Amino acid sequence: MIFEQVATGGCQSYLIGCNETCIAAVIDPEVRQIERYKALAAHHGVRIRYVIDTHTHADHFSAAKPLSQQLGVPAVAHRLSPAPYPTMRVDEGDVIKVGNVRLAVLHTPGHTRDAMCLVANDRVFTGDTLLIGATGRTDLPSGDPDQLYDSLFGKLLKLDPQLKIYPAHDYKGHTCSTIEEELASNPRLQKKDRAAFVEMMRTLSLSMPEHLTEALRVNMSGGVSVAQLLNEAAAEVPFMSMDEVRAQAEAGANDLIVLDVREKEAFDAGHIPGAAHLPRGLLELRVNEALPDPTVRIVAYCDYGKISTLATATLRRMGFTRAVALDGGMKAWREKGFPVEPAAN
Ligand SMILES: [Fe+2]
Repeated sequence: MIFEQVATGGCQSYLIGCNETCIAAVIDPEVRQIERYKALAAHHGVRIRYVIDTHTHADHFSAAKPLSQQLGVPAVAHRLSPAPYPTMRVDEGDVIKVGNVRLAVLHTPGHTRDAMCLVANDRVFTGDTLLIGATGRTDLPSGDPDQLYDSLFGKLLKLDPQLKIYPAHDYKGHTCSTIEEELASNPRLQKKDRAAFVEMMRTLSLSMPEHLTEALRVNMSGGVSVAQLLNEAAAEVPFMSMDEVRAQAEAGANDLIVLDVREKEAFDAGHIPGAAHLPRGLLELRVNEALPDPTVRIVAYCDYGKISTLATATLRRMGFTRAVALDGGMKAWREKGFPVEPAAN
């Protein structure tokens, strides 16, 4: 069996595969690791055949949709997943055949309604149902401490105590544990009485995860995060250094339009000498009058280099094939002491 654990901060994801058939699955993929999963699969000589989410994640961005689309393979989730993109919905008792490795589905609601654990040979992928030294929280959307009690004490903890557990999160540097170890030492599992367990889960005061609303929006809809949108735009456009823009501006180059895409107030307060102004929000509306020559070289800039990257991608899509984005923004430009117009008092 092929097995790799990939951590992204506290998020744990896994590549599990079958040597004989060269087929693999990725469990709980994180969007920043897409190339790593593909590289690991290539390294082991296997093809990723399934992309599986153990539940709807609220604290990180799932790669299930983009990875499954890139590879042309099913995105797998429990049938109760609210996301529209899973193309293979599974239920309690189903088995996902990863070549000769079988992943048996246990529906384990509690952390979320759609939570599942996957049992494979000597191990179980517990998602956020059971963590090392903790359990998943039950205070996020569709969480329910009563259901978590049943999923743990009525199902997961009744499995073979020797099974290794691999959770979707670990913030303390652990990589693996066993059911036996967790039964003995996991503080939350010491509350074996339902009412005490539920009371404990209800009174945990946990801070909300970072990016909660954005992660739920992306994971439940299959949309993209702001960071992904920016990364995709940045991958489509070339950049020009601030030194180069300054040199060209000072040489009075007349074949380069320095385009400020910020709002009017920001432009009026100080811009790169000689810059033209076309706010990002009006780009598509005014582009025909403002930039009649599609062969012109354009370098777009904003305050931090993000909006200008989006603007440059839009310009290129519209046919301005020589548009580039400033590698930096007005903030960094000022910090370098480069000339600003009108001159600061
Ligand atoms: Fe979770």
